[in-house]
Amino acid sequence: MDHGFGIIGTGDIAAVHARAIGTIANAHLAGVTDIVRDKARAFGEQFNCNVFDSASALVNSPEIETVCICTPSGTHLEPALLAIDAGRHCIIEKPLEVTVNRCRTIIEAAKKKNVLVAGIFPMRFLDINMEVRKAVESGRFGKMIMGDVYVKWFRSQTYYDQVKWRGDPEISGGGAVMNQAIHSVDLLRWMMGEVKEVSAFSAMLGHHDLDVEDTAVATLRFENGALGVIEASTAVFPGSYKRMEILGTGGSVITEEETIVKWEFSEESDLDNEIRLRFSGEETVGGGVTDPKAIKDTGHIRQISDMVEALETGRPLVIDAEEAAKAVEIIEAIYKSARTGMTVSL
Ligand SMILES: NC(=O)c1ccc[n+]([C@@H]2O[C@H](COP(=O)([O-])OP(=O)(O)OC[C@H]3O[C@@H](n4cnc5c(N)ncnc54)[C@H](O)[C@@H]3O)[C@@H](O)[C@H]2O)c1
Repeated sequence: MDHGFGIIGTGDIAAVHARAIGTIANAHLAGVTDIVRDKARAFGEQFNCNVFDSASALVNSPEIETVCICTPSGTHLEPALLAIDAGRHCIIEKPLEVTVNRCRTIIEAAKKKNVLVAGIFPMRFLDINMEVRKAVESGRFGKMIMGDVYVKWFRSQTYYDQVKWRGDPEISGGGAVMNQAIHSVDLLRWMMGEVKEVSAFSAMLGHHDLDVEDTAVATLRFENGALGVIEASTAVFPGSYKRMEILGTGGSVITEEETIVKWEFSEESDLDNEIRLRFSGEETVGGGVTDPKAIKDTGHIRQISDMVEALETGRPLVIDAEEAAKAVEIIEAIYKSARTGMTVSL
């Protein structure tokens, strides 16, 4: 069966969705829409698909089974509800929405209508992160001790000035943590398990006239007792690759983007050398260190394929809305702690 996709919001990330859909044999991009008509028209020409006059026309098109929501973060809810009410499945860009309450509204609506909603976190679908997760699942780390992620990037003042919603907390939900580091926050939780407590600081250090943080540090206590750190910035030139450290009594793994910096376990397996060689660095792309558009399509291709497979087989999505909302919950706790100076329990 061929699966028809629609896209609401034809900005930067929409092109990744369109290209990804184009690579999937039994899927096609049926149509797009944007509140800026000319943008939608140009996008429709580029990707050779219908252009709808409104989100409501798009979601009611019989050709469209799944709607990709690619509008600014704090405007995911309304088009998502339109699509869900029309009985369409959704793939919603990160963050699912900018508050836990808005996420819950999406989750409840999807449950009522019995439709699938996926939250985009492409890093989970990358081979390197799936290998780390396999090592976690098979208990190779022993007792988990620390889990840390570092997203120290650079975004110019122009990056914020040109696209106003990025500096507006109502629409972006926040700055360096909600908008950039959220991928790593999700990955860290996937590896380490649920977060129990958070204590954080945030600041605006390298930009001006923004109401969101460009730098934040958070310390975490996970439910399994391990401790961890999240550091995020968009103010440090020239920026560094995203780094993750998963450390236990039985082993340590350190990655930077898709490169393994350290992969050592007290009990070496036959495959460890192969894994170290496979992720020795050739595959690493900028990953958005300084250029927000330097994103590989691989994760999106796999995540949209996951939706197609879930539709065909009836199996659950890898990242459903409930799962995607957990990162928003952690980030809300980070912001609350930074605001109040208190440790926040989740
Ligand atoms: N997964 C990733 O790596 C990644 C990367 C970048 C952005 N994103 C996420 O994707 C979303 C969009 O980001 P972007 O950088 O593409 O933003 P953008 O500003 O480039 O594009 C957003 C588009 O949505 C349109 N729009 C706004 N409100 C609309 C509405 N109600 N109906 C229809 N169209 C509407 C705008 O006109 C614009 O064309 C954000 O949630 C962002 O966090 C994800």
